[in-house]
Amino acid sequence: MLKTKDILDEKDKRLRLVSEEVTFPMSDEDLKYIDLMVTYLTDSQIEKLAEKYDLRPGMGMAAIQLGIPKRYITIVHEVEEGVFDTYVVINPKIISNSVEKIYVEQGEGCLSVNRDVEGIVPRYARVTVEGYDTKGQKIRIRAREELAIAFQHEIDHLNGILFYDHIDLKNPMKDADRYRAI
Ligand code: NI
Repeated sequence: MLKTKDILDEKDKRLRLVSEEVTFPMSDEDLKYIDLMVTYLTDSQIEKLAEKYDLRPGMGMAAIQLGIPKRYITIVHEVEEGVFDTYVVINPKIISNSVEKIYVEQGEGCLSVNRDVEGIVPRYARVTVEGYDTKGQKIRIRAREELAIAFQHEIDHLNGILFYDHIDLKNPMKDADRYRAI
């Protein structure tokens, strides 16, 4: 199983790579990593397991966070206590977005960033994501609010972007009134 130490830290330059498109059929190794990522994200959001295995909680992970420069992401979204929706998207792309933007009031988090970073990260409130499942079938997902932010955050990873790149360093709370806090 994956441990928190297997996840690249923000100082690792590989996180700045632009990941490569995946071709199908996917390799057994990539499929294995996807399973590991989903298991990590699910367990990390179940308090007892997170404690037992010392997992830092997170809802999303991109392959590059394990040092794999390929375009796939996993998101495990807790929709109610102990109930999770799991998304695995290969070669994901945002094909449309809302005009409205939002931000996480307490600050966005990332499994590769082991510190609190304050500041506004503007994100679309709603996005439509297109990509492929692990078998190469086209999929389309409509996401809003927290889930929409997760998709934007993970797709950024595939382009070598970390969430705090979006924060204005001189004025981290800049334009707070232009966006809705969630
Ligand atoms: Ni992240």
